[in-house]
Amino acid sequence: MSASTGIDLMSESFFANPFPTFERLRTQAPVYFFEPYQCFILTRGADIEALAKSPHFSSRRAQELLGGLGLLGEDAASKDMLATWSRLVFFQDPPRHALLRQLIMKGFTPSAIERFRPQLASIVERVLEKGRRQGEMDVVADFAEPIALTTIAEMFALPQVDRPQFMHWAKDLLKPAGVGVNTDEVRSSIRRTSHDMVAYLRDLVEKRRAAPGEDLVSQFIAGEEGNPQLAGEAVLQSFQMIGAGFITSTNQLTNTILALLNHPVQLSALRADPRLTRGAIEESLRHEPATLSINRLCVEDTELGGTHIPKGRFVYGMTAASNRDPEVFPHPDRFDITRTHNRHATFGVGVHYCPGASLVRLEVEEALRALLTFPHWEFVGKPYNYQGSNFQDRGPNSLHVRFPRT
Ligand code: HEM
Repeated sequence: MSASTGIDLMSESFFANPFPTFERLRTQAPVYFFEPYQCFILTRGADIEALAKSPHFSSRRAQELLGGLGLLGEDAASKDMLATWSRLVFFQDPPRHALLRQLIMKGFTPSAIERFRPQLASIVERVLEKGRRQGEMDVVADFAEPIALTTIAEMFALPQVDRPQFMHWAKDLLKPAGVGVNTDEVRSSIRRTSHDMVAYLRDLVEKRRAAPGEDLVSQFIAGEEGNPQLAGEAVLQSFQMIGAGFITSTNQLTNTILALLNHPVQLSALRADPRLTRGAIEESLRHEPATLSINRLCVEDTELGGTHIPKGRFVYGMTAASNRDPEVFPHPDRFDITRTHNRHATFGVGVHYCPGASLVRLEVEEALRALLTFPHWEFVGKPYNYQGSNFQDRGPNSLHVRFPRT
């Protein structure tokens, strides 16, 4: 299948509903060369697993990925940015990857996340005040974004006075860089903010080194100390958490609420039996994931799914497509919160499996617990769209919902 067959992977309408396209690719061209991006697109679970596990495909791809997005020039800001980003765990292969992973996982053990539950419940309550007062809110701006950002700010124990600036940076750094967005403006703001934020975190790390606490930054520092191979990593991995944990959580919170609004029978079932909450979270992660794909750089000519992949090509494994594979999930397009055996690929496959998975699940769980105290949810007639979505981050950019009392 070639580009001339009309496969659209770039428009807003694709991001609004990518699943028919994924279905077409999976059945007709499961290893598809997408000419506009000069990359391969995988839509079968087995091929995506091979991509994640084969040494022919590398995560050491910061320069190629950032360069491909037009984020790197010859200027000092670009060099500075590349030096930072290429050290993130996301961009490492073994054995360096395992070393960094050990450092970050200490803060993300199931018990560390569970201990955070009461704090998260109170974040959700605070954020929901506006919705309670007004009986209506934009789920993205008034609910999901503040929950995602405050969660990270609390995990870092950021001083209250720094939070407005921090929130501003986090949003700036992660301005959606997808369809329908002024990319030149986005690119320069990402470079500037990346620099300012790392400078802030460097300062924060020094303060915590002098006066450690129980927070995630202090844990990263403790892991770094005494291990010369990890020098400087507390700053970089803190930075990475903001990059990896903000838009993703925002989108997953929003996508879950939207999925339930679009499936009122399932929403009623959840209201009637809150024990279905876990099922609702997993089904939303499968059916409406915040992330569509993982990607790797081919570092040696190889074969994947019967197709020759030359060295130097990017390959995108569409995890969101494998989540709809009928051979794995009966009636895959059905949103069913009672589904069992829901082994979706939303958090990735193999050694890079998302360390934030338990945190996101907890965020969505606490959000649902609070929102289900409203007896009704209703769409407000304001349209929403998927401008800014991309292969990495998918979600509506606003979602106006009313919560009438009766
Ligand atoms: C629904 C929300 C989220 C989704 C769908 C998601 C998805 C993913 C996926 C697919 C990967 C693997 C990438 C790859 O294989 O190249 C990943 C890695 C990662 N995620 Fe998440 N993520 C989410 C939320 C979070 C949160 C809240 C955090 C932290 C606060 C986080 C931190 C990370 C980090 C640090 C990595 C890199 C891990 C590594 O390379 O070993 N993520 N995530």
